[in-house]
Amino acid sequence: MKRLDNLLVNSGYGSRREVQKIIRQKKVTVNGEIINRPAVHVDILKDEVCVLGEKVLYKEFVYLMLNKPAGFVSATHDKFERTVLELIDDEDKILEPYPVGRLDKDTVGLLIISNDGNMCHRVLSPKRHVEKKYFVRVDTCLNSSHIEIFSKGVILEDGYKCKPVELKILNSTPTGSECEVVLTEGKFHQIKRMFEAINSNVLYLKRIEFCGIELDENLNEGEYRHLTDEEVNILKLV
Ligand code: URA
Repeated sequence: MKRLDNLLVNSGYGSRREVQKIIRQKKVTVNGEIINRPAVHVDILKDEVCVLGEKVLYKEFVYLMLNKPAGFVSATHDKFERTVLELIDDEDKILEPYPVGRLDKDTVGLLIISNDGNMCHRVLSPKRHVEKKYFVRVDTCLNSSHIEIFSKGVILEDGYKCKPVELKILNSTPTGSECEVVLTEGKFHQIKRMFEAINSNVLYLKRIEFCGIELDENLNEGEYRHLTDEEVNILKLV
């Protein structure tokens, strides 16, 4: 059962305030009967809800793209830390979305937030090899020998051999470098540990692409938007 106002917000009829107004203006019917109380509960499987006579097509899933800022953990609740869900408006949290995978507290960039459990399971499955592209700033001078080490598979401190990846050096100076790395696996702190393995420290880490979906450059850190239909389709086809 869902509250009528929540259902309408989630189906694209406006903000909570706007849909409550529509309901109070007696423009909404449930099974043919005018309902003017926003808190009434409706059964989305059985009840027919109409706005000005038009049947409401109920949306089951929500898909958001967040440009995660540093300082927030990728969780729905945390006793001590601020979570990425705190950056999402209440009306976009009605369907109870959660972060699809994790970025470290100090990592910024693209984080998908959704309630589509099947999609989430597929894109995070190690078998699907979904690509995640990162922009990385490190405190050492990267060169062709590092490209070679990455292309053969970096060995982490615990002995794990990473899959071969391309290290694309964007610029390199004696005091630091910037580069891009695309991962198809997701070990704990993987990027930081890969650079530690070549005696380099990650100073700044930003995810710029996930599963072929690019971070929207119009989003400032802390801002989010709904995915477009095309972007949702990319996720659903994984
Ligand atoms: N690798 C890391 O080390 N941290 C992240 O947040 C993502 C990938």
